[in-house]
Amino acid sequence: MKSPSKTVITAALPYANGPMHIGFLLEAIQADIYARVLRSLRKEVLYICASDMHGTPIEINARKAGLEPEKFVEKYWKEHQQDAASFLISFDNFYKTHSKENKELSEYFFTGLKKKKYIYIKNMDVIYCPSCQRSLPDRYIRGACPLCGTADQYGDICEGCGSVLKGTDLLNPKCSICGTTPQIKSSPHYFFKLSAFAGKLKKWINSKRADLQPEVRNWLKGWLDKGLEDWCISRDAPYFGFEIPDSKKECGEVKYFYVWLDAPIGYLSSTQNYCGKQNQKQKNCAWEDYWKGGKAQHFIGKDISYFHFLFWPAMLMAMGIPLPKLTVHGFITVNGQKMSKSRGTFFTAKEFHKLYGAEALRFYYASHLQRKVVDVDLNFDEFAAVVNNVLVGKLGNFCYRSLTFAEKNYPLLPAAAENKALTKKVLSLSEKIKKNYLAQDYHAAMKNILVVADLGNAYFQKAEPWKSKDDEKTKKAVSWCINLARNLAILINPVLPEFSAKVFSVLGEKNLVFSDINFRWKGKVHKVPLLVNKVEIVRKESFPLQLTVGKILEVKDHSNADSLYLLSVDLGKLGKRQVVAGLKKHFSKDLLQGRKAIFVANMKPAKLRGEMSEAMILAADDGAHVSILEVQKLDPGEEVHFEGTENVHAEITFDEFLKVNMTVQAGKVFYAGKKLISSLEEVRVHTVNDGAKVR
Ligand code: MSP
Ligand code: ZN
Repeated sequence: MKSPSKTVITAALPYANGPMHIGFLLEAIQADIYARVLRSLRKEVLYICASDMHGTPIEINARKAGLEPEKFVEKYWKEHQQDAASFLISFDNFYKTHSKENKELSEYFFTGLKKKKYIYIKNMDVIYCPSCQRSLPDRYIRGACPLCGTADQYGDICEGCGSVLKGTDLLNPKCSICGTTPQIKSSPHYFFKLSAFAGKLKKWINSKRADLQPEVRNWLKGWLDKGLEDWCISRDAPYFGFEIPDSKKECGEVKYFYVWLDAPIGYLSSTQNYCGKQNQKQKNCAWEDYWKGGKAQHFIGKDISYFHFLFWPAMLMAMGIPLPKLTVHGFITVNGQKMSKSRGTFFTAKEFHKLYGAEALRFYYASHLQRKVVDVDLNFDEFAAVVNNVLVGKLGNFCYRSLTFAEKNYPLLPAAAENKALTKKVLSLSEKIKKNYLAQDYHAAMKNILVVADLGNAYFQKAEPWKSKDDEKTKKAVSWCINLARNLAILINPVLPEFSAKVFSVLGEKNLVFSDINFRWKGKVHKVPLLVNKVEIVRKESFPLQLTVGKILEVKDHSNADSLYLLSVDLGKLGKRQVVAGLKKHFSKDLLQGRKAIFVANMKPAKLRGEMSEAMILAADDGAHVSILEVQKLDPGEEVHFEGTENVHAEITFDEFLKVNMTVQAGKVFYAGKKLISSLEEVRVHTVNDGAKVR
């Protein structure tokens, strides 16, 4: 071991399965601030992350998007790096789990554990869909909860009663991909002897070294008291992951590592990849330098605690690697609600950055983060108040006001006034702030930084430098303010690196660290740029139609009208509905049957010529041609929306519907200049001319 003082910091590896969102950013920012704090203390840190690329959901979504999994994950790997950089996340390396390094290290772990007899093979029942020809993870089975009877639940948890389930528990189970009733199949699988680590884990959770958050210690105690079951670490083909060495020989068919086996190893392999890139410059750097010194620190969300407090530590113990420290954070809610696309409370990193920039979110998150497992609400009224009144109004205001005053009136400043009492107060607050940061109590750090800014504002106000002439006393007072602004910029640097860099450069300096905090600066004040911007909250516009994908299951003639069809439509989680559609003149039954199109799901049900119509199918009509709004990749029940709007789900009448003006341009549908989109595809129409009305 070469230099055991190196610290590695990690954020959990986001799945390469969709755009980065502001929930993950809570974690990335929490860890980033910590990394920057340690750097400011001149510690050697490596901030590591990677894309988590394996598993069934990624494989299925890649196919849905019409891409090979390798291509699909690569796309998000690139995107996630850009998104993280745009929020000033200072990763030293952002690698991937589908990599040579991770394959090697996963095999190293597996064979190591096997040699130590912590791995064995046992037959296990898996749920298998004969039509998809794949075994189904619990999340891909739907059925009724055996405990409370709630219908249409996923096989991992019941939303009705909150019970944790197994796919095999569900009543009347169906494959959620194709709807077929699955079978149970027994086959050999690899298991990791988690149960053998109960004693060691118990010791660890009570140790001072582990420094667990109290709520986490309680969960862990509960889990350990319930008893640990051994952990199945293999999956059947088809799977996007690494083949298990010798599995064909030992099990009769190829098995793959379960994504949660190789994902945490991704922390080490990303480190290894970093070292590989350094090796030309710096000889003999390897992952062990960072992970065997016992100074690793993970940041994770509460949902992945089980993996990081049981499976992962047990694997590390078995491999003789010291256990990292862990900090668990809660979830982001938006205006008090779970982040969700259908509620309009979901924000991708890109969307948010475009609206409000990076430092507003960094400051807001920092103001709310403590080392506690509590959810953080992104309330937009509060967000505007924190950014505009606190960040801009206090911290920004003091720095901007004193710097611009100096630039204009005294661009060349002498040493600061002595101000013994105040100076001492600021220096002792600075010490406190450093401690707050190190304890990961950023909320307290921000509070104390604002106390310092307030001191500055009060001092400036009292000194009234604008009233005095060009005397030495005034210059020294102004210089004290500039020194304070410089110190504030150092203190806030881990949270607002761009803000701080601007202040430093005004003073002709850069990369100042905590040990540079003092009141000894004197010299030239350069041109002052805008330091921070106010935000103006942009509300998503609401759109009155609940635009939902439906699959046309069956087409029949309306017995009482020549131009009408009766459609039986699968609207996914909204269920099956009957829809009366005036499409008979334009489409044969065969042309409609089996296609997926956009329906208005919140139409007030109405009887049309004696038949109930419980939704409406949309169609584009240019007077000559008619086209339905067809989609390929989306599933029944998923919603599409016009850019920047959210669908309202409240019921609407036919008259209200007629007032909504949607038209076609170049094969795409528009409403008030906004395009109809979804996360997977743009909605298209065929064969109609521009200007066609959509009804
Ligand atoms: N791939 C796994 C982690 C493997 S680590 C070896 C995973 N990925 S994730 O993309 O679902 O989540 C990545 C991190 O973001 C997790 O720590 C998760 O808790 C966090 N968050 C995801 N949604 C979040 C919120 N809405 N709010 C806060 N954090 C959230 O889990
Ligand atoms: Zn199936």
